[in-house]
Amino acid sequence: MDKLQPLEKAVAAHLIDGKFIARQIRDELRADVTELATRGVVPGLGVLLVGNHPASRSYVTAKEKACAEIGMLSREINLPETATPREIVQAVETLNAASDIHGILVQLPLPDSSIEQEVLQTVDPGKDVDGFHPVNVGRMVLGLPAYWPCTPHGILQMLKRSSIPVAGAHVVVIGRSNIVGRPLSILLSMKHVLGNATVTLCHTGSRDIAKLTRQADIVIAAAGRPHTLTADMVRPGAAVIDVGVNRVEDPTRERGYRLIGDADFDDLLPIASAITPVPGGVGPMTIAMLLHNTVQAARRLTNNEAKG
Ligand code: GUN
Repeated sequence: MDKLQPLEKAVAAHLIDGKFIARQIRDELRADVTELATRGVVPGLGVLLVGNHPASRSYVTAKEKACAEIGMLSREINLPETATPREIVQAVETLNAASDIHGILVQLPLPDSSIEQEVLQTVDPGKDVDGFHPVNVGRMVLGLPAYWPCTPHGILQMLKRSSIPVAGAHVVVIGRSNIVGRPLSILLSMKHVLGNATVTLCHTGSRDIAKLTRQADIVIAAAGRPHTLTADMVRPGAAVIDVGVNRVEDPTRERGYRLIGDADFDDLLPIASAITPVPGGVGPMTIAMLLHNTVQAARRLTNNEAKG
């Protein structure tokens, strides 16, 4: 008779395949784009990239490629790193005024991060498909119709489509950034079909983060720092979402680096019930939700135009 498998081999985590789920969403959006085309509307995304930071360049290229794949338009304005605040604001105003552009994305970080708020507040809130304008942030917090920021929304979709229960669960988020942690903590706690969780938001000022994460049904690591979430910090059977994208030197790779997340993936694999890989986890979901918001924007803006 065969020996029983050792327990640790029998409980490997379910891998949450962000590429697969994002493709599902993009396929759904392709149908929406086809429907809009019957009205002569092609959803258009305007992208502003200042400088040519390699990571930002590759994100922007991936977003533009994803637009083309589902029949959407994208237009990039690439300003030099030396562009003045006035030139950057003017580029946003150009995209605000373009009637074939329904969504605008200012790739962050800007070379001068001190002007980010001024630039983001120049984006027409109706075209703010990143959901970073204070009008959209405020509307989101109040539960009014708004563009939800792409990474947090992508994570909610990922949890739903992986059948990981969120309502009533205790979710611990590590990291309070404006782009991910803070809006995610708000969306998770709100009373809607993707939320209704009990949320703990940890940050650099938190005491004993491990004590908090060990109480979680779902842990979301969004600190932007490798090894933020180690195996001893996670209760067996909890789900782990890793938002981190960190470049670490790797001479064995042709490009000289590899990407790792904020969580110790290999150590967590036998402990968690489900876990996202890096790359191929949250990243593709961010892009899918950007397309989703842009299709929404095209629908909204062209309906408004039709109403005069
Ligand atoms: N930089 C890192 N994440 C994002 C994002 O979701 N949107 C923009 N515009 N910049 C980013």
